[in-house]
Amino acid sequence: RHPEFRHFMLKEIYEQPDVVRACLEKYLNLDWTQNRTSESPIHLGLPASFYNGLAEIHIVACGTSLHASLVGQYWLEQLAGIPTRVRYASEFPDHPFPLTPNTLTIAVTQSGETADTLKALTFEQQRRSQLTPACRPRLLGLTNQPNSTLQQRVDHILHAPSEQEVGVAATKSFVAQLIVFYTLALDLACRRQMLSSDRLDILLREVERLPEKISQILAATDAIAQLAKELVDTQDFIFLARGINYPIALEGALKLKETSYIHAEGYAAGEFLHGPIAILDEQVTVVAIAMPGQVYDKTLANLQKVKSRGARLIAITTPVNSEAAALFDSLLPIPDVDELLSPILTVIPLQLLAYYITVYRGLDVDRPRGLTKSLSAE
Ligand code: F6R
Repeated sequence: RHPEFRHFMLKEIYEQPDVVRACLEKYLNLDWTQNRTSESPIHLGLPASFYNGLAEIHIVACGTSLHASLVGQYWLEQLAGIPTRVRYASEFPDHPFPLTPNTLTIAVTQSGETADTLKALTFEQQRRSQLTPACRPRLLGLTNQPNSTLQQRVDHILHAPSEQEVGVAATKSFVAQLIVFYTLALDLACRRQMLSSDRLDILLREVERLPEKISQILAATDAIAQLAKELVDTQDFIFLARGINYPIALEGALKLKETSYIHAEGYAAGEFLHGPIAILDEQVTVVAIAMPGQVYDKTLANLQKVKSRGARLIAITTPVNSEAAALFDSLLPIPDVDELLSPILTVIPLQLLAYYITVYRGLDVDRPRGLTKSLSAE
């Protein structure tokens, strides 16, 4: 049951199981594993011309939408095998990707109104006329607001249904974008015959259980609130992860700094050792995502080095063995999940941590200073 919501941000964090359900219902036929009534379990509603000869994907976005895009890049490359590049929309017109034929350009924007992202699209639209119509880049908008300006600038739209988000900090809109990226990657992977039918079954069953697993994380909110109380005066946070959770480290840092105004930075855990680690001492708190999977051992090895510098270490992980547990000062548990889908879960405790730290600092978590829901100026 939902507790009383004092703020929109908390309400919107708690809406995420329903948002995931709505996205899955929109794009996936989850009965498919038992009852194969259609050729594919994925129905994005895109025409055949969208897929023809697709060789490369370019993505432009800002802020939290950029972090969703970085997770999307991982799925598009690792599941569907399509080379994918992501760039800040604000940088794109001055540093565009070389114009390549048969490319899909995706603009990702929760509001559909962000000036930098719309400008990047206008730039792409103008220059694509240099290529013959058959191999021109296709423009796809991925947005939580389908009736926005974005729609007028793209050939196709994928809607991430998350209903209105009032809190300025994006939470449920981010998770909805992730689900849409995941279904797009699955769709492309199936069409390119990159997935065995057994692996597809496993991935569909895993995604179906996400709402229930998000609810399990939300049921432990009190422990996160308690930890937030202990951290309220901390002045520096570092968020670390490797692989598919690296963008979630960036997102955790963004959520915390934009709501609480505390200095926070996200790094790829291996890269952090190349200089930034010098910042660590007893005053710094490190929040690390360490999910079992292909990067687990490497992440733990990185965290040993972090621990040796005296920093407080908080882990976002599944229940761990005692050797790993001894490394962490606190642990925020995540249910078992396929590593590929783990970003959809690991972001939840980070949203809650940012929320509670901000509330305990007495700040207006729904309206951080100087920020608006969409940035309509460059
Ligand atoms: C952070 C946040 C911003 C937006 C960014 C892009 O919580 O909301 O970083 O993600 O301004 O906005 P959209 O997605 O509307 O283009």
